[in-house]
Amino acid sequence: MRVILLGPPGAGKGTQARMLSDLAGVPQVASGDLLRAAVQKKTPLGREVADILARGDLVGDETVVKLIEDRLDGPDAARGFILDGFPRSVPQAELLDGMLTRRGIRIDRALAVMVPDGEIVKRISGRRTCRNCQTMYNVALEPPRQPGVCEKCGGELYQREDDSEQTVQHRLDVYNASTKPLLEYYSRAGILSRIDGMGTPTDVEKRMVGALDGLVPKERGGSAR
Ligand code: AP5
Ligand code: MG
Repeated sequence: MRVILLGPPGAGKGTQARMLSDLAGVPQVASGDLLRAAVQKKTPLGREVADILARGDLVGDETVVKLIEDRLDGPDAARGFILDGFPRSVPQAELLDGMLTRRGIRIDRALAVMVPDGEIVKRISGRRTCRNCQTMYNVALEPPRQPGVCEKCGGELYQREDDSEQTVQHRLDVYNASTKPLLEYYSRAGILSRIDGMGTPTDVEKRMVGALDGLVPKERGGSAR
């Protein structure tokens, strides 16, 4: 199963990618997570991109494509993957197509999670992420039992540097200018499904699984067609 998750910042791509990864047994490959890990570890790449992430601008296409290509060559991605946050522009999508064609594979489906702008601001301003296992919480919508502490691993919950209201607005502008054209790109390729991102994460997951049409089991422990 090779799937792309599209959608504006805060739409729930990461939340859904984790759920689908668990259901389908293929890894979530999230460009934002890979870049933030590089920033946290202060690698040469991390130092190069830290300011770009903090501003909410896009990292250069070649840099991100190289990062994703290395990740997709990992043995755990051989059976499939869920791309979360990549591609983010038409040039990235074209480079991805070339990369997959060289490997004799293709994307099965691009799922676009759609939510209104007002909901995005609400979701992002409440988001807290575990530094250790990356589990996400929302202090307004889905708070952890103990404030600031991850329920799964006890790790510290933090707020992303790019989640201030001003930066979120800029990320939305960047999405509309650079990423939204991908809806047309994948629609033309005949593999786009638009998914209503409102409701609980489980409601949204059911719509995703429906759109994946037999590529994943309908329930945990079930089998795909
Ligand atoms: P990235 O990390 O990809 O951020 P993003 O696209 O802005 O998206 P988010 O991670 O903010 O939101 P999400 O859709 O994953 O929502 P989530 O599930 O967390 O990118 C960050 C930066 O890295 C970019 O700005 C850029 O600088 C760089 N970058 C990354 N990829 C790049 C690329 N390909 N090219 C160039 N640069 C790149 O949910 C949000 C909140 O809502 C959470 O609190 C969650 O708990 C809650 N929530 C989720 N679903 C629901 C629901 N159904 N109901 C209620 N609450 C919900
Ligand atoms: Mg995310």
